[in-house]
Amino acid sequence: METATVEIDNVTKRFDDLIAVDRISLCIDRGQTLGLIGPNGAGKTTLLRIIASLAVPDRGDVRIQGQSVRTNPRAVRKILGFMPAEFGCPRNLTIGEYLEYFGCLYAIPKLDRRQRIQEVCQLTDLSGRERVLVKGLSTGNRQRLLLAKTLLHDPQVLVLDEPASGLDPRARTELRGIVRELAAMGKTIIISSHILPDIEDISDRIGIIEAGRLVLDGNLDALRAHHRTSSRQVKLRVGSEDATRARNLLAALSVVTSCELQEPFLIIGSDEPNRNFVLAEMLKHDIRVLQFQEDEPSLEEIFMQSTAGKVT
Ligand SMILES: Nc1ncnc2c1ncn2[C@@H]1O[C@H](COP(=O)(O)OP(=O)(O)OP(=O)(O)O)[C@@H](O)[C@H]1O
Ligand SMILES: [Mg+2]
Repeated sequence: METATVEIDNVTKRFDDLIAVDRISLCIDRGQTLGLIGPNGAGKTTLLRIIASLAVPDRGDVRIQGQSVRTNPRAVRKILGFMPAEFGCPRNLTIGEYLEYFGCLYAIPKLDRRQRIQEVCQLTDLSGRERVLVKGLSTGNRQRLLLAKTLLHDPQVLVLDEPASGLDPRARTELRGIVRELAAMGKTIIISSHILPDIEDISDRIGIIEAGRLVLDGNLDALRAHHRTSSRQVKLRVGSEDATRARNLLAALSVVTSCELQEPFLIIGSDEPNRNFVLAEMLKHDIRVLQFQEDEPSLEEIFMQSTAGKVT
């Protein structure tokens, strides 16, 4: 089949009285990177485990390339790689042995296994470290190794649960680079993280989960448009000789709620989502605009606005 799409179809998962995932539906196209964010306990890991066929939903289904996690988990596991948030392995192995062990579990033929291990080590910058013991690894290298293991059977779909957790800034940047490289290879990636700038940077699409519900989903532009609020301000800079006139003209407009001069900018507040009227007014009165800037909300602001701090 050509398209490797992930279809999450009305998935619900309960733990006794607690609804960890509540009627979530989402489709992810082949080659897309979906960033999943949400407060602690929001249900991200539970959803990722369901997608990876490691937990069974109470209701709904997930299909990976058309294969149901309910009825065909073995087929799902062949085309999907899951990187868990926690590293659990016998630590008295070397990197090479660890990958060899998982290569056997994935039933990669012995002849191909060596080459495949070399390839994943190269991808994750672990080349030359095959004899290093797993137990002494830094968090950065441990995460690389977990990712290398996830890539062993060359899955088309990658599900990464907080891969950057605990990494220092350099290791984080390097991991981001690896994820981008995998995306460029055409992999479909679902990644959860609390590091919002990273998610902002690597995701084609972002889903915000809170208390088991998908509260917002879309690309960053759509999320921004949704959250472009009336409190958002526009910065305008005109020549200093025109500043007072520009302020008076704008302050007189009914759509303008505030207009202050904060040298060298005029800071304009308005309920009108489209701020072109500012430019139109300047043009109408032949006032030269030197700078015009509307602050875009960061993913962090969008996150804070769309989640109310509810936990399940
Ligand atoms: N096996 C389980 N048994 C009982 N409750 C569980 C189980 N797994 C998860 N939960 C609960 O389900 C809810 C969602 O947990 P989950 O681990 O999916 O959240 P999360 O979004 O991944 O959080 P975090 O950001 O802290 O990793 C939480 O309230 C958690 O305590
Ligand atoms: Mg989690």
